[in-house]
Amino acid sequence: MNEFIQGLPKVELHLHIEGTLEPELMFELAERNNIVIPFASPQAVRDAYQFHNLQSFLDIYYQGANVLITEQDFFDLTWAYLLRCKQDNVLHTEIFFDPQTHTERGIAFDTVIGGITRALEQANTQLGITSQLIMCFLRHLDEDDAFKTLALAMPYKDKIIAVGLDSSELGHPPEKFARVFRAAKEAGFLTVSHAGEEGPAQNIHDTIELLGVSRIDHGVRCVEDKALVQQLAESRMPLTVCPLSNIKLKVFDTMRQHNIVELLEAGLCVTINSDDPAYFGGYMTDNFVAVANAHPLTPAQLAQFTLNAIEASFIDSARKEALT
Ligand code: ADE
Ligand code: ZN
Repeated sequence: MNEFIQGLPKVELHLHIEGTLEPELMFELAERNNIVIPFASPQAVRDAYQFHNLQSFLDIYYQGANVLITEQDFFDLTWAYLLRCKQDNVLHTEIFFDPQTHTERGIAFDTVIGGITRALEQANTQLGITSQLIMCFLRHLDEDDAFKTLALAMPYKDKIIAVGLDSSELGHPPEKFARVFRAAKEAGFLTVSHAGEEGPAQNIHDTIELLGVSRIDHGVRCVEDKALVQQLAESRMPLTVCPLSNIKLKVFDTMRQHNIVELLEAGLCVTINSDDPAYFGGYMTDNFVAVANAHPLTPAQLAQFTLNAIEASFIDSARKEALT
């Protein structure tokens, strides 16, 4: 089964580029940029990755991103992830980036997007991997900051397919960003949003109603509302589920208790994704293997995750046909 999973063509739809920063690269960039990090070795960094909820992860994750300074740093980060995509037979990837994590530290928007897109273009020509870029607003920051970030993105509209919403879900409900999402849609961006990861099913419902999203990122707490599950199945609203992330952040205690297979069997458009693989112990193949080890799945069911991801993706129609 592991060999089948390894070779299975994959499409990733939920991946934070800052979450692909492996401890070895963190050390290399810290040295290159003369930044002191509070760890003695890459292994010490890995040992510190013990999380008890989303916030305990985010605190360490934003600290890690401090080593990213130059355009070359963002290129190196993105290129390393794309090489992992090649290894895992990921043919297409839709990547989140969090500009506010960087602009808050005085790094120019252009530096961030320049390095990321240079790597994406190189992956297209050298590795045959296609991609899209999704700009996320940090939901713990205020609406005004999100509007300023949207303004910064306007000159790069040709490089960004959608806006998204991530960071602390509890205490920052979707309605806080309804106006900025409306403005983003009017400017031509598609929209997606994290919801129902730690927050209640109501957040998923409100995210669909108020933010006009094409996909829900995570969404696993939908099972708390049977009518919502039925609506998600009927509308084929995609859920970009991240199994290893959910275990690491204690959304579920064990992979056997994870509801992804229940959702697949209920007819939802669920997909498998890696979220922040450098922090959660696995890239795409690892996530598929972890699910398959905990749940009896047929090859057809495993392939259905990829078919769902193609259906849910923002791939242009010619490439979509080629992949299906
Ligand atoms: N940012 C990076 N990973 C995240 C996650 N799993 N949930 C919310 N925000 C995030
Ligand atoms: Zn995420």
